[in-house]
Amino acid sequence: MNFEFRTAESNDWDAVAALLTSVNLPLEGAREHLENFILSFDGDELVGVAGMEKYGNVGLLRSVATSRRGIGLGQALVQQALDSAALNGIRRVVLLTTTAADFFPRFGFRPIQREEAPIAAYQSIEFQGACPASSIVMLLEN
Ligand SMILES: CC(C)(COP(=O)(O)OP(=O)(O)OC[C@H]1O[C@@H](n2cnc3c(N)ncnc32)[C@H](O)[C@@H]1OP(=O)(O)O)[C@@H](O)C(=O)NCCC(=O)NCCS
Repeated sequence: MNFEFRTAESNDWDAVAALLTSVNLPLEGAREHLENFILSFDGDELVGVAGMEKYGNVGLLRSVATSRRGIGLGQALVQQALDSAALNGIRRVVLLTTTAADFFPRFGFRPIQREEAPIAAYQSIEFQGACPASSIVMLLEN
């Protein structure tokens, strides 16, 4: 794997939206938090994304997607997003997923009841309808 990783810029939006759409992940709220998204490129081609919404010392991990599967790219993106959040003082990270609950325990996430999520995270549009009510909610505490 020899990809370039960098933080997203506003003119990356079209490529990010296309990648998220291609894997059926919601776009709602993503553009507003784009500055906290980590991207991975193979040359000029966007091949992966991991996004973080920040609410004080609570983070919401979202928009994790890769187009090159099974080579460690998804894990690298998530780890970078978590490391960056930790450097910014984020101690608790929440996520909602319908498709990848078995992917996230390797980073320390555990499933929780929706009511157990840090209140600050409820500001996220993912809690306000962008993700189905049946989504699994997971929490990482450092
Ligand atoms: C989830 C996703 C980002 C993983 O990316 P990836 O680049 O293939 O992941 P990696 O190569 O770093 O890791 C591969 C490992 O993750 C596991 N994995 C990959 N996708 C998974 C999923 N949807 N659920 C559970 N485990 C998954 C693989 O089985 C493999 O496990 P192993 O290490 O035990 O062999 C990718 O499958 C994807 O884009 N899925 C569609 C979008 C999505 O569902 N995102 C999550 C939304 S919260």
